[in-house]
Amino acid sequence: MDYEMILKEIKPNTNEKEKVESLAKSMIDFINYTSEKENIPTKALLVGSVAKNTWLSGRADIDIFLHFPLDTSIEDLKKHGLKLGYACIKKMKGTPEERYASHPYVTGHIEGYSVDFVPCYSIENSQELKSAVDRTILHTHYIQSNLRSEQINQVLLLKKFMEGVETYGSEFKVGGFAGYLCELLIIEYGDFKSVLEAASSQWKKGFVIDLENHGTGNNFSEPLVVIDPVDPNRNVAAALNIQKMSEFMAASRNYLQEPKKEYFFNIPRTITKDTILKRFHERGTRPIIISFKAPDIPADAIYPQLKKTETSLKTKMEQNGFKVLRSGYWTNEDTKAFIIIEFDVWNLPHCETHLGPRIWDANHQKKFLEKYASAWLDGNQWVVEIERKHNNVPDFINYLLKKENIHHLKIGKHLKEEILNQYEMKDIDDFLSENNSQKILEFFHQYLNPGKHLRR
Ligand code: UTP
Ligand code: MN
Repeated sequence: MDYEMILKEIKPNTNEKEKVESLAKSMIDFINYTSEKENIPTKALLVGSVAKNTWLSGRADIDIFLHFPLDTSIEDLKKHGLKLGYACIKKMKGTPEERYASHPYVTGHIEGYSVDFVPCYSIENSQELKSAVDRTILHTHYIQSNLRSEQINQVLLLKKFMEGVETYGSEFKVGGFAGYLCELLIIEYGDFKSVLEAASSQWKKGFVIDLENHGTGNNFSEPLVVIDPVDPNRNVAAALNIQKMSEFMAASRNYLQEPKKEYFFNIPRTITKDTILKRFHERGTRPIIISFKAPDIPADAIYPQLKKTETSLKTKMEQNGFKVLRSGYWTNEDTKAFIIIEFDVWNLPHCETHLGPRIWDANHQKKFLEKYASAWLDGNQWVVEIERKHNNVPDFINYLLKKENIHHLKIGKHLKEEILNQYEMKDIDDFLSENNSQKILEFFHQYLNPGKHLRR
């Protein structure tokens, strides 16, 4: 594999690097100047992948942390942190967007880059930790002093490969590998290829990597455990789910068997509504789409609620006798959200068998026969045929999503409010005739081709 050629495309060139670094510097200078002038006890610091030199070309997200002394109250930290962030975004003529990690922070869209301004406490070690983001400065120092300069390219290759096979990102939507985790994997295994080899042949469920020999590996139960070098009580891979761990292992095996440049680059494609519809029609299933407004909560909070609702709907459907072939969900994290449930059995007869007591139980038999005069014996057990309450899918879904019945489902609080307020239920043809953005078509393409991203 010609890694030099790939690096040429993914490593920021001098020009881009200078631009990002000087932009970051002018923002940091502005914050430090303003905080000094206004007597706010904080200093701005560049952290994250730009500070570590491990960012991918064209994708710089600039992480600026404003660290406050430990005796600052959390209210002051939030207030001053947000205020300085907003002031800096305004000065740079960007647009602000307020977000939420362990406490609120603000992101600015500035000159085509996204810049996070995150207030945190200035800590020297993990015992002083007050909020989850406080570790970040320690992470940045750890990588700056432990990742050898020739390993930077290896991190870039690993991140890009992860992106290509869709396992990069620790946000809930992905549930994959964070940037810091990629860096630690390179430190542990040495280079890109060795990480893939280890994942292919050594990793098991619960595999532990403990770079600083903290010895706390047994305290964690996640699928992969990577003890944070700067905090023995933190698993850096906590957000990695078993699905994405498995996908990375499968993609690594595929790649090592036949390395191809295509693993690093997603082939751009246009997906048409007609190809999606054709595939669904060929399958002969019945896909039902339930769409509603996305609740106004952080993205990382929407996804778990969607997942919970999807699972619960599916379970209820199957308990009633319908059969679900596959299901999924999507949101633009802003206004729209939907759940798709694809049925392979969606119509049921009007009757169903109802089982009664065994012959040995005279008391129960009496009660059963009082209720069901037409019951008969199947071997030693009483059975009867009764009328089925719900025999078609749309009616049953409408029934479940009524205010008085929704308690049968396990739905996140915010999603429940939105659904009770309004939802639409459509089959795939109707749904796509009104919702055919590339992003939605892309979702259905992935839905219909679930393993494709792992092999080129
Ligand atoms: P980023 O998600 O911006 O990561 O979080 P990054 O290292 O800058 O990588 P890019 O942006 O994808 O190239 C910033 C910092 O927050 C901490 C890490 O210290 C990271 O460097 N962090 C973030 C975690 O420890 N875990 C996470 O899941 C996410
Ligand atoms: Mn970053």
